Amino acid sequence: MISKQTANNFMRLLVFGLLLVTGCKQKNKNTAVVKSIEPEFSISERPIGTYQGSRITEYTISNPYGVALSFLNYGGTVTKLIVPDRNGQLGDVVLGFDSLSGYLQENNPYFGSIVGRYANRIAHARFQLDGHIYELAANNNGNSLHGGIKGFDKMIWEVERLKGDSSAKLTYHSKDGEEGYPGNLDVSVIYTLTANNEFRIEYSAVTDKATPLNLTNHSYFNLSGGEATTILSHELRIDADKFTEVDTLLIPTGNLAEVKGPMDFRNSKAVGKEIDQVRGGYDHNYVLNDQNGVLRNVATLYYAPNGRCMDVLTTEPGLQFYSGNFLDGTLTTTKKSQKYSMHGGLCLEAQHFPDSPNQPGFPNTILRPGKTYSQTTVYAFTVK
Ligand code: GLA
Repeated sequence: MISKQTANNFMRLLVFGLLLVTGCKQKNKNTAVVKSIEPEFSISERPIGTYQGSRITEYTISNPYGVALSFLNYGGTVTKLIVPDRNGQLGDVVLGFDSLSGYLQENNPYFGSIVGRYANRIAHARFQLDGHIYELAANNNGNSLHGGIKGFDKMIWEVERLKGDSSAKLTYHSKDGEEGYPGNLDVSVIYTLTANNEFRIEYSAVTDKATPLNLTNHSYFNLSGGEATTILSHELRIDADKFTEVDTLLIPTGNLAEVKGPMDFRNSKAVGKEIDQVRGGYDHNYVLNDQNGVLRNVATLYYAPNGRCMDVLTTEPGLQFYSGNFLDGTLTTTKKSQKYSMHGGLCLEAQHFPDSPNQPGFPNTILRPGKTYSQTTVYAFTVK
């Protein structure tokens, strides 16, 4: 007979063992993670200003070991993501600003934002659906990028704390016709910080008219936590044999090209290794292998000097790898006045393929009344 105590201890060891073998397959030296199997979370609030008459608040979900996720009700913007390195040193791994005015500046390149109604580009800012032609707000060389001129990243979201204080639910009602899109759309996004140092994002939405929908998060990662000015030495793996080939304006040609040479991240390599051979740097949607809507590990980012490792898990068919090509050092009120120059951070945006509403060969992105959109993406932090 096994005593209850022995059984409990066995369960604890099992959970701990599982923590060690998942993620980056690392030797996890972070004692905070080990102890935090059942940590107490808390959520704090900090008013940071007003925008168009609305009060803007920064919410912080944290555990007692200092791991924290901060976000705003403006755009659902992730402002801080604080995780340990291999020595237990905490650091902020996302780019951002020190004040609300930073996030409101015109050329803020979607730092940490929820992007919608349609993340990425829609060619000529138009599409046809059920016999109607819809004209969208054009904001990128005549195309529509990231939902148009005033996308979900610039909207005020309602925030509700969820039980347990490790999650918050953000909701937004997008009106019929907003930025040219059809249908009243109710969107909800749940942000969770888990005991395993994962940032989990669960999106869902319903509509009263058929509409294209493609939601993502636009956080810029730099795992050095402010030490390295570029991500070129970060090592990246993406589980994709193909990517959606694009023209010079980054609009898909419809062709799924094989990854070759610089585009091939099937085996982990430094982002900077062959970036010079990619015109403009990486800004490509990778066609993830074997995606069938089930949450699975699709990419890993690793920064060797401090051992921080980030796995990306998603239910989505695509992953936009953007190497921060348009960062040019001109953003103001950046965190600790850092100069965010070209390749200062990178985005791994889990999503459907760009321009899907005009590309019959791509997976469908039309949400119809009576159906519920859902997508889950997890950024899981470990060390090795
Ligand atoms: C996306 C796009 C890029 C760029 C950034 C924002 O990742 O693919 O081309 O527009 O957003 O600067």
